Amino acid sequence: MTAPTHATATFPHRHLLGIEGLTAEQISLILDVADGYVEQNKKPNKKTAILSGLTQVNLFFENSTRTRTSFELAGIRLGADVINMSADGSSVKKGETLIDTAMTLNAMHLDALVVRHNASGAVKLLADKVNCSVINAGDGNHEHPTQALLDALAIRRRLGRLEGLVVAICGDILHSRVARSNIHLLNAMGAHVRVVAPPTLLPSQIDRLGCEVHHTMKSGLKDADVVMMLRLQNERMSGQYVPSTREYFYFYGLDYEKLEVAKPHAVIMHPGPMNRGVEIDSEVADDLKRSMILDQVELGVAVRMAVLDLLTRGRRGNAE
Ligand code: CP
Repeated sequence: MTAPTHATATFPHRHLLGIEGLTAEQISLILDVADGYVEQNKKPNKKTAILSGLTQVNLFFENSTRTRTSFELAGIRLGADVINMSADGSSVKKGETLIDTAMTLNAMHLDALVVRHNASGAVKLLADKVNCSVINAGDGNHEHPTQALLDALAIRRRLGRLEGLVVAICGDILHSRVARSNIHLLNAMGAHVRVVAPPTLLPSQIDRLGCEVHHTMKSGLKDADVVMMLRLQNERMSGQYVPSTREYFYFYGLDYEKLEVAKPHAVIMHPGPMNRGVEIDSEVADDLKRSMILDQVELGVAVRMAVLDLLTRGRRGNAE
């Protein structure tokens, strides 16, 4: 089995460190290639051999369920040899630096390195030291590019386009790399982006990224096509940003009442992990007609296959 679509298209970057700087054409190419992998992932035989002989290491310094598992599945389904490493099981725990870790892995002739780190910019630092392709699986509150790509794919497949849609990103924008990557991507693709949060959970001058700022769900969700909820990222907070989770849910938690002002067809998204009853009501999250949360998970594998495929084309010499 060969790569499903756009088999000879080339991607002009060695790494995927963020969405910022990608053109609409480059984003569309990733989504188009991912569309092919979505279909392939529904078949009994999900494997290709296009990354056969290549080595992929997933290096996670932060916890993950979705991103890590889907990158592992993506590499396996493309035929790569995939190794998972976590900070807990590595020599980082003995004091080895990130750079030394990178140089050590580089000496083993990797082809793709997928990295999640709690420091913004850490993945770029590492990419500058290695010869392989590096993919940012989330760095601090900076970027999570494959999450934004899978979100875009989910919207495009459900609503048919991205251009012109009103997308409300709600919740803890301040600490969210998902929000930043989505703002860059949605702007590049011509969507109208709103961020909805209390002032304490918004970065100063967020509007400079090209989004409308709303402090109430009523105004932020008005006529929205897409409502994207984010969790409170307590692990990145020092101090208290909301009076209580109960009060936060009252004002900013998504329930059917708040959703009434959005367009009738509006879809609900969440990158996960979800905190039910904090940023989203369980009934809304589990609404099979409107919630795309599990579609997002499914499409994450295809998007990561597309990214691994495209980034390694130069290394493979030709696209089979
Ligand atoms: N959305 C996301 O990044 O989830 P994980 O932390 O489980 O990978």
